[in-house]
Amino acid sequence: MRATHELTLPVPTPGTNVAFDVDRVRKDFPLLRQQVHGKPLVYLDNAATSQKPQVVIDTLTRYYAEENSNVHRGVHFLSERATEAHEAARANVRRFLNAADTREVIFVRGATEGINLVAQSYGRTHIKPGDEIIISWMEHHSNIVPWQMLCEDKGAVLRVIPINDDGEVLLDEYERLLTPRTKFVALVHVSNALGTINPVKQMIEMAHRQRVPVLLDGAQAVAHLPVDVQELDCDFYVFSGHKVLGPTGIGILYGKADFLERMPPYQGGGDMILSVTFEKTRYNTLPYKFEAGTPHIAGVVGLGAAIDYLQGIGLDRIAAYEQGLLAYGTDVLSAIPGLRLIGTARGKAGVLSFVLEGIHAHDIGTVLDQQGVAIRAGHHCAMPVMQRFGVPATARASLAFYNTRGELDALGRAIRKAIELFS
Ligand code: ALA
Repeated sequence: MRATHELTLPVPTPGTNVAFDVDRVRKDFPLLRQQVHGKPLVYLDNAATSQKPQVVIDTLTRYYAEENSNVHRGVHFLSERATEAHEAARANVRRFLNAADTREVIFVRGATEGINLVAQSYGRTHIKPGDEIIISWMEHHSNIVPWQMLCEDKGAVLRVIPINDDGEVLLDEYERLLTPRTKFVALVHVSNALGTINPVKQMIEMAHRQRVPVLLDGAQAVAHLPVDVQELDCDFYVFSGHKVLGPTGIGILYGKADFLERMPPYQGGGDMILSVTFEKTRYNTLPYKFEAGTPHIAGVVGLGAAIDYLQGIGLDRIAAYEQGLLAYGTDVLSAIPGLRLIGTARGKAGVLSFVLEGIHAHDIGTVLDQQGVAIRAGHHCAMPVMQRFGVPATARASLAFYNTRGELDALGRAIRKAIELFS
């Protein structure tokens, strides 16, 4: 007989009375002050990328104006200062994720590169023909394709956890898929297309009972809820800097040290070595073994500033405020005739994906843009999710803690305008 799994929801309660001064927070984001097509900008495309607070912009400017130098190489003053700033940011990320050790924090280009690194380094050395890798139906392409490539290469098999009509993983099906053939599980923490917050702690426990390691794609999670990798007990965690108020081109791979120690380098080059001869290269220790070449130093330093800023506000307060916004936005959208929300999980972060009867998502996006409202329209790099819900694309408003209820009212008005125009 199969066990029935109840969802244990890791969701903060809607924060109706949270002391959160959104007007003050908005002043930190210069981009939000602009007008688009003569209308005040309503930026609701935060799942694609977040806006940057002034402190991050200033940190980048100061780095290039006063500190620019290469790290881990020079003996001169500037190089030492850049190295210190680079490594201080690593310590920031360690605290942010509550990783046990800075050696477990690897700088990569983004969540995508982090996943590819694990698939290529861990995967190529551990996955054998006939082995199975489990992902879920709501993965972003970045957590599908690297595993498909690995499976093709190794003769392994990709297994997919189905989801229900609300966009929740079916835990009984997941339990059924976990077999002695399972060698790896890769799951999205928060879905970019649906907003679902997966019960990842429970899913990790289930995988660990079978001694299967788990990677979490946290690209849509870290800016919206507190993440503690030790508490989750995930083996790998990835995220992108640009979705947490930081610069593009920088991201994080967290991995438990005992996994990373046993993994071969992903790329070869400078900085990842201890010594090189034509006969043999000795690799550097963690984390440098996985950081070949000059890193994105400015990006790292900017990410450190972004994390400081976020933590200054507090992820608990951000999560509570955003839950209130999400509930409000859900009511605004649900009141619009002919609008269907895609993604109605019980545990959700601030993503409002929807379709309108008879109007293509791209047309909705264009009309909204004319009203100054920026959303994303398309398949959101999650084509299997679109297929699951029988739609070619959705329009998606995605929230951040600098959004307001007034902006959600503007979204509602702009959608009604689109309906008017196309009816
Ligand atoms: N993955 C990003 C999004 O969901 C780009 O929009």
